[in-house]
Amino acid sequence: MNLLNLLNLLNLLNLLKIILITLCAIAQFGFGFFNPALALDISNGAKIFTNNCASCHIGGGNILISGKSLRKEALSQYLEDYDTDSIQAISYQMTNGKNAMPAFKNKLSEQEILEVAAFVFQQAEQGW
Ligand code: HEC
Repeated sequence: MNLLNLLNLLNLLNLLKIILITLCAIAQFGFGFFNPALALDISNGAKIFTNNCASCHIGGGNILISGKSLRKEALSQYLEDYDTDSIQAISYQMTNGKNAMPAFKNKLSEQEILEVAAFVFQQAEQGW
């Protein structure tokens, strides 16, 4: 192997290294950045749900207005923008409340609201 070939090989290895580092960086930060649900602690959301929401929404239902449950079809039907921005739509309802549902903006932090929203979204996708 002459020197030129060796240099070419080293260049190629360097290029591969750069590609690999870039891919790792995207995997670590990119997905979390683009998908807020991944960066949120869903298990904490589940606990907050049990303490604050389950009294009315046990099992993803609704003890006051049974049709307005937390099932995917109901969320899609009654929450504005649910189909385009699900977590945001759930967070909005929790923050501001609606009719007989109380607002949680003075009770839960923004982060906690997002964590519960991520939990509700996950459960709705899984069919509770
Ligand atoms: C006092 C009972 C009560 C509590 C507690 C409560 N909700 Fe609700 N929730 C309701 C009622 C009633 C509605 C229907 C409101 C309407 O549209 O008139 C509702 C609707 C919703 C909806 C929209 C679903 C749909 O089909 O319209 C979401 C999402 C939701 N609640 C999430 C939560 C979360 C998350 C919590 C806990 C932080 C919570 N709720 C706590 C009573 C409650």
